Amino acid sequence: MGLIKIGDAAVSEQKVVDTTTMSSTEEKDESKNEKDATSKKKAASKKQSRGTGRVKLVREKEDKETSLFKENIYIVFVECETPGNIGFLARTMANFGLKNLVLINPPTLTNEAYYQATHGKYIVENAKIFPTLDEFYQSQRIDFKVASTGTAGGSYNLSRIPIRPEELGKSLNVENKICILFGREGNGLTNKEIGDCDICVSIPTDPTYPIMNISHAAAIIFYELFKNRHEYGVEGLKESTPLEKEYLLKDMDELIDSIDIPEHKKSNGKKTFKNIISRAFITGREAHTLKGILRRLKMKIGEQ
Ligand SMILES: C[S@@+](CC[C@H](N)C(=O)[O-])C[C@H]1O[C@@H](n2cnc3c(N)ncnc32)[C@H](O)[C@@H]1O
Repeated sequence: MGLIKIGDAAVSEQKVVDTTTMSSTEEKDESKNEKDATSKKKAASKKQSRGTGRVKLVREKEDKETSLFKENIYIVFVECETPGNIGFLARTMANFGLKNLVLINPPTLTNEAYYQATHGKYIVENAKIFPTLDEFYQSQRIDFKVASTGTAGGSYNLSRIPIRPEELGKSLNVENKICILFGREGNGLTNKEIGDCDICVSIPTDPTYPIMNISHAAAIIFYELFKNRHEYGVEGLKESTPLEKEYLLKDMDELIDSIDIPEHKKSNGKKTFKNIISRAFITGREAHTLKGILRRLKMKIGEQ
Protein backbone atom coordinates (compact mmCIF):
# COMPACT_ATOMS: atom_id res chain seq x y z
CA MET A 1 0.00 0.00 0.00
CA GLY A 2 1.36 3.42 -0.89
CA LEU A 3 1.66 6.20 1.68
CA ILE A 4 -1.67 7.78 2.42
CA LYS A 5 -1.99 10.72 4.81
CA ILE A 6 -3.92 10.06 8.02
CA GLY A 7 -7.29 11.75 7.79
CA ASP A 8 -7.77 10.94 4.11
CA ALA A 9 -11.07 9.25 3.19
CA ALA A 10 -9.07 6.46 1.50
CA VAL A 11 -7.41 5.57 4.82
CA SER A 12 -10.76 5.07 6.58
CA GLU A 13 -11.92 2.72 3.85
CA GLN A 14 -8.66 0.77 4.07
CA LYS A 15 -9.11 0.47 7.83
CA VAL A 16 -12.51 -1.22 7.52
CA VAL A 17 -11.11 -3.86 5.21
CA ASP A 18 -7.92 -4.48 7.19
CA THR A 19 -9.44 -4.78 10.72
CA THR A 20 -11.25 -8.02 9.80
CA THR A 21 -7.92 -9.89 9.81
CA MET A 22 -6.14 -8.02 12.64
CA SER A 23 -4.46 -9.64 15.62
CA SER A 24 -5.02 -8.07 19.10
CA THR A 25 -1.57 -6.41 19.01
CA GLU A 26 -2.42 -4.99 15.65
CA GLU A 27 -5.74 -3.80 17.08
CA LYS A 28 -3.93 -2.05 19.93
CA ASP A 29 -1.55 -0.41 17.45
CA GLU A 30 -4.46 0.63 15.34
CA SER A 31 -6.31 2.16 18.27
CA LYS A 32 -3.11 4.01 19.29
CA ASN A 33 -2.85 5.30 15.70
CA GLU A 34 -6.43 6.47 15.83
CA LYS A 35 -5.80 8.32 19.11
CA ASP A 36 -2.69 9.92 17.60
CA ALA A 37 -4.67 10.93 14.55
CA THR A 38 -7.42 12.49 16.68
CA SER A 39 -4.98 14.46 18.81
CA LYS A 40 -3.11 15.59 15.67
CA LYS A 41 -6.43 16.70 14.19
CA LYS A 42 -7.26 18.61 17.38
CA ALA A 43 -3.84 20.27 17.38
CA ALA A 44 -4.23 21.19 13.70
CA SER A 45 -7.65 22.70 14.28
CA LYS A 46 -6.34 24.63 17.34
CA LYS A 47 -3.45 25.93 15.20
CA GLN A 48 -5.89 26.88 12.46
CA SER A 49 -8.10 28.84 14.84
CA ARG A 50 -5.01 30.55 16.29
CA GLY A 51 -4.07 31.40 12.67
CA THR A 52 -7.53 32.78 11.97
CA GLY A 53 -7.25 34.90 15.13
CA ARG A 54 -3.93 36.28 13.98
CA VAL A 55 -5.33 37.07 10.51
CA LYS A 56 -8.23 38.90 12.19
CA LEU A 57 -5.80 40.89 14.33
CA VAL A 58 -3.69 41.83 11.31
CA ARG A 59 -6.86 42.86 9.42
CA GLU A 60 -7.97 45.02 12.35
CA LYS A 61 -4.52 46.61 12.47
CA GLU A 62 -4.64 47.17 8.71
CA ASP A 63 -8.06 48.79 8.94
CA LYS A 64 -6.83 51.09 11.69
CA GLU A 65 -3.69 51.89 9.70
CA THR A 66 -5.75 52.58 6.56
CA SER A 67 -8.11 54.94 8.33
CA LEU A 68 -5.22 56.75 10.05
CA PHE A 69 -3.54 57.09 6.65
CA LYS A 70 -6.71 58.63 5.19
CA GLU A 71 -7.49 60.86 8.16
CA ASN A 72 -4.08 62.11 9.24
CA ILE A 73 -2.32 63.08 6.02
CA TYR A 74 -3.01 66.55 4.61
CA ILE A 75 -1.89 67.35 1.08
CA VAL A 76 -1.24 71.08 0.80
CA PHE A 77 -0.97 72.78 -2.58
CA VAL A 78 0.62 76.19 -2.02
CA GLU A 79 -0.57 78.96 -4.36
CA CYS A 80 -1.42 76.74 -7.28
CA GLU A 81 -1.53 78.67 -10.54
CA THR A 82 -3.58 76.37 -12.82
CA PRO A 83 -6.96 74.91 -11.72
CA GLY A 84 -6.39 71.80 -13.85
CA ASN A 85 -3.41 70.88 -11.67
CA ILE A 86 -5.66 70.87 -8.59
CA GLY A 87 -7.78 68.28 -10.39
CA PHE A 88 -4.78 66.17 -11.39
CA LEU A 89 -3.51 66.27 -7.80
CA ALA A 90 -6.93 65.29 -6.42
CA ARG A 91 -7.13 62.35 -8.83
CA THR A 92 -3.70 61.15 -7.74
CA MET A 93 -4.72 61.48 -4.09
CA ALA A 94 -7.82 59.35 -4.73
CA ASN A 95 -5.64 56.69 -6.40
CA PHE A 96 -3.66 56.32 -3.19
CA GLY A 97 -6.46 56.64 -0.64
CA LEU A 98 -5.78 60.21 0.46
CA LYS A 99 -8.64 62.63 0.95
CA ASN A 100 -7.58 65.81 2.80
CA LEU A 101 -6.70 68.47 0.25
CA VAL A 102 -5.71 71.93 1.45
CA LEU A 103 -5.40 74.82 -1.00
CA ILE A 104 -3.45 77.91 -0.03
CA ASN A 105 -4.59 81.01 -1.91
CA PRO A 106 -5.71 79.06 -4.99
CA PRO A 107 -7.03 80.46 -8.28
CA THR A 108 -10.78 80.25 -8.93
CA LEU A 109 -11.80 76.60 -9.04
CA THR A 110 -13.10 76.46 -12.59
CA ASN A 111 -14.71 73.37 -14.17
CA GLU A 112 -11.25 72.31 -15.28
CA ALA A 113 -10.31 71.46 -11.68
CA TYR A 114 -13.35 69.17 -11.27
CA TYR A 115 -13.02 67.71 -14.76
CA GLN A 116 -9.36 66.70 -14.36
CA ALA A 117 -10.07 65.15 -10.96
CA THR A 118 -12.39 62.55 -12.61
CA HIS A 119 -13.18 60.09 -9.77
CA GLY A 120 -11.37 62.32 -7.30
CA LYS A 121 -13.92 65.12 -7.80
CA TYR A 122 -15.16 64.76 -4.20
CA ILE A 123 -11.66 65.69 -3.02
CA VAL A 124 -11.80 69.02 -4.86
CA GLU A 125 -15.34 69.60 -3.57
CA ASN A 126 -14.21 69.04 0.03
CA ALA A 127 -10.89 70.90 -0.24
CA LYS A 128 -10.17 73.36 2.60
CA ILE A 129 -9.04 76.78 1.44
CA PHE A 130 -6.80 79.16 3.43
CA PRO A 131 -5.37 82.54 2.38
CA THR A 132 -1.94 81.73 3.88
CA LEU A 133 0.05 78.71 5.02
CA ASP A 134 0.29 80.16 8.54
CA GLU A 135 -3.50 80.31 8.76
CA PHE A 136 -3.67 76.64 7.87
CA TYR A 137 -1.07 75.80 10.56
CA GLN A 138 -3.08 77.79 13.11
CA SER A 139 -6.34 76.07 12.17
CA GLN A 140 -5.09 72.54 12.54
CA ARG A 141 -2.71 70.64 14.83
CA ILE A 142 0.10 69.37 12.62
CA ASP A 143 2.77 67.15 14.21
CA PHE A 144 5.06 66.68 11.25
CA LYS A 145 5.54 68.91 8.22
CA VAL A 146 7.05 67.68 4.97
CA ALA A 147 8.09 69.93 2.07
CA SER A 148 8.57 68.54 -1.43
CA THR A 149 10.99 70.05 -3.90
CA GLY A 150 12.70 69.35 -7.18
CA THR A 151 15.45 71.81 -6.30
CA ALA A 152 17.02 70.09 -3.35
CA GLY A 153 20.01 71.72 -1.74
CA GLY A 154 23.17 70.31 -0.33
CA SER A 155 25.40 71.04 2.60
CA TYR A 156 25.33 74.73 1.65
CA ASN A 157 21.55 74.99 2.02
CA LEU A 158 20.53 73.49 5.34
CA SER A 159 16.77 73.76 4.73
CA ARG A 160 16.92 71.79 1.53
CA ILE A 161 18.83 68.65 2.53
CA PRO A 162 16.37 66.04 1.23
CA ILE A 163 15.36 62.49 1.92
CA ARG A 164 14.02 60.16 -0.77
CA PRO A 165 10.29 59.33 -0.99
CA GLU A 166 11.08 55.72 -0.08
CA GLU A 167 12.73 56.72 3.20
CA LEU A 168 9.79 59.00 3.94
CA GLY A 169 7.32 56.19 3.27
CA LYS A 170 9.15 53.82 5.59
CA SER A 171 9.53 56.25 8.45
CA LEU A 172 6.30 58.23 8.48
CA ASN A 173 4.17 57.51 11.52
CA VAL A 174 0.55 57.95 10.44
CA GLU A 175 -0.57 58.18 14.06
CA ASN A 176 0.73 61.76 13.81
CA LYS A 177 -1.00 64.54 11.91
CA ILE A 178 1.17 65.06 8.85
CA CYS A 179 1.13 67.62 6.06
CA ILE A 180 2.97 67.37 2.75
CA LEU A 181 3.51 70.62 0.89
CA PHE A 182 3.60 70.96 -2.89
CA GLY A 183 4.74 74.21 -4.40
CA ARG A 184 3.73 76.68 -7.05
CA GLU A 185 4.10 75.49 -10.63
CA GLY A 186 6.41 78.41 -11.41
CA ASN A 187 8.50 78.99 -8.30
CA GLY A 188 7.93 75.97 -6.11
CA LEU A 189 8.17 76.52 -2.33
CA THR A 190 10.15 79.36 -0.79
CA ASN A 191 13.18 78.72 1.43
CA LYS A 192 11.11 79.93 4.40
CA GLU A 193 8.23 77.53 3.62
CA ILE A 194 10.70 74.64 3.36
CA GLY A 195 12.69 75.77 6.41
CA ASP A 196 9.52 75.76 8.55
CA CYS A 197 9.03 72.08 7.73
CA ASP A 198 10.57 69.18 9.65
CA ILE A 199 11.84 67.47 6.56
CA CYS A 200 12.24 67.93 2.84
CA VAL A 201 11.55 65.17 0.32
CA SER A 202 12.90 65.11 -3.22
CA ILE A 203 12.53 62.54 -5.99
CA PRO A 204 15.89 61.63 -7.51
CA THR A 205 15.79 62.60 -11.19
CA ASP A 206 18.21 63.28 -14.00
CA PRO A 207 20.16 66.30 -12.72
CA THR A 208 19.79 68.06 -16.06
CA TYR A 209 16.00 68.20 -15.57
CA PRO A 210 14.97 67.58 -11.94
CA ILE A 211 11.70 69.51 -11.99
CA MET A 212 8.67 67.30 -12.44
CA ASN A 213 5.07 68.12 -13.10
CA ILE A 214 3.43 68.50 -9.69
CA SER A 215 0.95 65.60 -10.00
CA HIS A 216 3.65 63.29 -11.37
CA ALA A 217 5.85 64.12 -8.38
CA ALA A 218 2.86 63.65 -6.07
CA ALA A 219 2.11 60.21 -7.57
CA ILE A 220 5.61 58.94 -6.78
CA ILE A 221 5.56 60.29 -3.24
CA PHE A 222 2.03 58.97 -2.53
CA TYR A 223 2.93 55.54 -3.89
CA GLU A 224 5.88 55.29 -1.51
CA LEU A 225 3.69 56.28 1.43
CA PHE A 226 0.90 53.94 0.35
CA LYS A 227 2.95 50.84 -0.24
CA ASN A 228 4.40 50.97 3.28
CA ARG A 229 1.26 51.62 5.17
CA HIS A 230 0.80 48.04 6.33
CA GLU A 231 4.19 47.90 7.99
CA TYR A 232 4.06 48.34 11.70
CA GLY A 233 6.64 49.73 14.04
CA VAL A 234 8.45 47.29 16.25
CA GLU A 235 7.15 47.31 19.79
CA GLY A 236 9.25 49.47 22.11
CA LEU A 237 10.50 51.53 19.16
CA LYS A 238 7.73 54.09 19.15
CA GLU A 239 8.71 57.30 17.44
CA SER A 240 9.22 60.30 19.72
CA THR A 241 6.26 62.66 20.02
CA PRO A 242 6.42 66.22 18.65
CA LEU A 243 6.65 67.46 22.26
CA GLU A 244 9.59 65.17 23.11
CA LYS A 245 11.39 66.43 20.00
CA GLU A 246 10.52 70.04 20.80
CA TYR A 247 12.06 69.75 24.31
CA LEU A 248 15.13 68.03 22.93
CA LEU A 249 15.66 70.77 20.32
CA LYS A 250 15.07 73.43 23.00
CA ASP A 251 17.80 71.87 25.19
CA MET A 252 20.22 71.81 22.26
CA ASP A 253 19.36 75.44 21.40
CA GLU A 254 20.12 76.48 24.99
CA LEU A 255 23.36 74.53 24.96
CA ILE A 256 24.44 76.17 21.70
CA ASP A 257 23.42 79.60 23.02
CA SER A 258 25.63 79.05 26.06
CA ILE A 259 28.81 78.70 24.02
CA ASP A 260 30.87 81.53 22.70
CA ILE A 261 30.55 81.37 18.90
CA PRO A 262 29.21 83.87 16.32
CA GLU A 263 25.43 84.16 15.93
CA HIS A 264 25.31 82.69 12.40
CA LYS A 265 27.22 79.61 13.57
CA LYS A 266 24.74 79.19 16.41
CA SER A 267 21.79 79.29 14.04
CA ASN A 268 23.47 76.86 11.60
CA GLY A 269 24.22 74.52 14.48
CA LYS A 270 20.60 74.62 15.69
CA LYS A 271 19.24 74.05 12.19
CA THR A 272 21.66 71.16 11.62
CA PHE A 273 20.64 69.45 14.86
CA LYS A 274 16.95 69.90 13.97
CA ASN A 275 17.55 68.40 10.52
CA ILE A 276 19.35 65.38 11.93
CA ILE A 277 16.68 64.74 14.53
CA SER A 278 13.88 65.04 11.95
CA ARG A 279 15.58 62.81 9.41
CA ALA A 280 16.42 60.16 11.98
CA PHE A 281 12.80 59.64 13.20
CA ILE A 282 14.22 58.95 16.67
CA THR A 283 12.30 56.99 19.28
CA GLY A 284 10.94 58.42 22.53
CA ARG A 285 13.60 56.58 24.51
CA GLU A 286 16.37 57.97 22.31
CA ALA A 287 14.96 61.48 22.74
CA HIS A 288 15.05 61.06 26.54
CA THR A 289 18.59 59.66 26.49
CA LEU A 290 19.87 62.55 24.37
CA LYS A 291 18.01 65.05 26.52
CA GLY A 292 19.65 63.64 29.64
CA ILE A 293 23.11 63.99 28.09
CA LEU A 294 22.43 67.56 26.96
CA ARG A 295 21.25 68.46 30.46
CA ARG A 296 24.49 67.12 31.97
CA LEU A 297 26.54 69.01 29.39
CA LYS A 298 24.68 72.20 30.24
CA MET A 299 25.37 71.66 33.93
CA LYS A 300 29.05 71.00 33.21
CA ILE A 301 29.33 74.21 31.18
CA GLY A 302 27.51 76.13 33.94
CA GLU A 303 30.08 74.87 36.50
CA GLN A 304 33.02 76.30 34.55
C1 LIG B 1 6.71 72.40 -11.22
S1 LIG B 1 7.35 72.17 -9.66
C2 LIG B 1 7.99 73.74 -9.22
C3 LIG B 1 9.10 74.17 -10.03
C4 LIG B 1 9.90 75.28 -9.42
N1 LIG B 1 10.53 75.96 -10.48
C5 LIG B 1 10.93 74.79 -8.43
O1 LIG B 1 12.10 75.00 -8.69
O2 LIG B 1 10.58 74.20 -7.39
C6 LIG B 1 5.92 72.12 -8.63
C7 LIG B 1 6.09 71.29 -7.41
O3 LIG B 1 6.19 69.92 -7.76
C8 LIG B 1 6.93 69.24 -6.76
N2 LIG B 1 8.12 68.64 -7.42
C9 LIG B 1 8.58 68.83 -8.67
N3 LIG B 1 9.67 68.09 -8.91
C10 LIG B 1 9.92 67.40 -7.80
C11 LIG B 1 10.91 66.44 -7.42
N4 LIG B 1 11.89 66.05 -8.24
N5 LIG B 1 10.85 65.93 -6.16
C12 LIG B 1 9.87 66.30 -5.31
N6 LIG B 1 8.91 67.18 -5.61
C13 LIG B 1 8.93 67.73 -6.82
C14 LIG B 1 7.33 70.30 -5.73
O4 LIG B 1 6.35 70.36 -4.74
C15 LIG B 1 7.30 71.56 -6.55
O5 LIG B 1 7.15 72.70 -5.75
